Amino acid sequence: MPSVFIKTYGCQMNERDSEAVAAQLVSKGYSLAPNELVADVVLLNTCSVRDQAEQKALGKMGNLAGVARKQGRSPILGFLGCMAQSRGRELIDSLPEVDLVLGTQKFHRTAEYLNDLLAGRSRKIVDIEEEAGSQGTIREHLAAAEGRKAVSAFVSIMQGCNQHCTFCIVPDTRGPERSRSIPEIVAECEELVAQGVREITLLGQIVTSFGRRDYPPVEGRSGFVQLLDAVHAISGLQRLRFTSPHPKGYGRDLVEAYGRLPKLVEHAHVPVQSGSNRILKLMHRGYTRERFLELVEELRSVHPGMGVTTDIIVGFPGETDSEFEETVDLCRVVEFDQAYLFKYSARKGTPAATMDHPVPEDVIEDRHQRLLEVINERALRRYARLIGQTQEILVEGPSRRNPARYEGRTRSNKIVVFDGSERHRGQLLNLRIERVGSFTLYGDAAIIGLDDFPTPAATVEV
Ligand code: SAH
Ligand code: F3S
Repeated sequence: MPSVFIKTYGCQMNERDSEAVAAQLVSKGYSLAPNELVADVVLLNTCSVRDQAEQKALGKMGNLAGVARKQGRSPILGFLGCMAQSRGRELIDSLPEVDLVLGTQKFHRTAEYLNDLLAGRSRKIVDIEEEAGSQGTIREHLAAAEGRKAVSAFVSIMQGCNQHCTFCIVPDTRGPERSRSIPEIVAECEELVAQGVREITLLGQIVTSFGRRDYPPVEGRSGFVQLLDAVHAISGLQRLRFTSPHPKGYGRDLVEAYGRLPKLVEHAHVPVQSGSNRILKLMHRGYTRERFLELVEELRSVHPGMGVTTDIIVGFPGETDSEFEETVDLCRVVEFDQAYLFKYSARKGTPAATMDHPVPEDVIEDRHQRLLEVINERALRRYARLIGQTQEILVEGPSRRNPARYEGRTRSNKIVVFDGSERHRGQLLNLRIERVGSFTLYGDAAIIGLDDFPTPAATVEV
């Protein structure tokens, strides 16, 4: 039985695609290898958002080929996903050890192609064609394929993006927006809940555009909010999340949904990208700084504890010092719970790649550092405010940082580490927050009789 190792670069969509590929392969008789050195098949599921992500995957593949040669082994090597889509056959031309290049609409064909390669029916396979209906093909889940129980699960609701932000390669690598149908998504969610899943995260590149063509607004509710309503109604589901929305997709109906739907958790990942109106316009983002600030206020007025997270790009072409300062200022005002900072990377074929006045590397580096400090300081402050408070967490399993302890997430998406055990997995627990580390909270292990416990001294670990 051949064994496979899949390494994933990039976003949660990629993680979900890898998981679906793994599930597909397991159900076809493959086993999952513990590492890349012993696997019969090694697949790299790639990201193209920044050049660095592509270079990492290319370096890794070169390295894998070299090690295999030294060991006298010849595993099947494959590139999947975004870089496979954008570079295609060129990947095999430059790395002849690569056997398989599979684009973003072809994940469901992985097992079939690997079987052909392993049986010697094909020598090299490149498939980056478009495929109608591919948005509905990412549906297998690994836990189910392995007969395990999972606490939370990702469900892909759409593929692609039509927004065409001027810096972004995703509309090229993932294609135009294609949504699945609401009944199909609900059926997948129901199945997951029946298998024990408590929390579902709906995934897409721009989920707020879900169903724009097929589901016109009903009583002021967009297709996406209609989907939230339908998934929310599944009994046994306890928490509902989604990512990534677009700020301009946050109409009243969506803001109001947070107040109306108790399972919809208090977390919004709203990518702002920049605090300068001129840069936002050059980026083709479709909202202003003022509208973004208003949106954050609206969200926090529904729930004061709303976790607001974001993505920001530093050094977009032509970004001046004072425009960068507007971003710093916006971060001071908003106090994000977490922000992912990206150094601008020119992507071939995108409008921004040919814009005037690229920002020099060292300036990007300085701005990145400065913004990181401001963001971390504010985020730590928001985390520290939870010390002494009781938070509901959904226990996911042993802590990734310290496997001797357990961890879960608050509704606002903050990780809480506590002294738990296997019997807590999948449970919703109310924990008192004792202290805070870097983007981690530490909870009181005493989960019974919370009110009888003295408030622990607040310590802030940085
Ligand atoms: N809507 C998608 C966006 C995918 S790209 C999502 O949130 O999943 C994720 C983030 O990468 C973007 O929000 C942006 O901040 C960053 N990014 C995209 N293209 C970039 C580029 N050319 N250079 C630097 N960062 C980029
Ligand atoms: Fe990219 Fe903008 Fe869509 S960041 S994924 S083009 S919303």
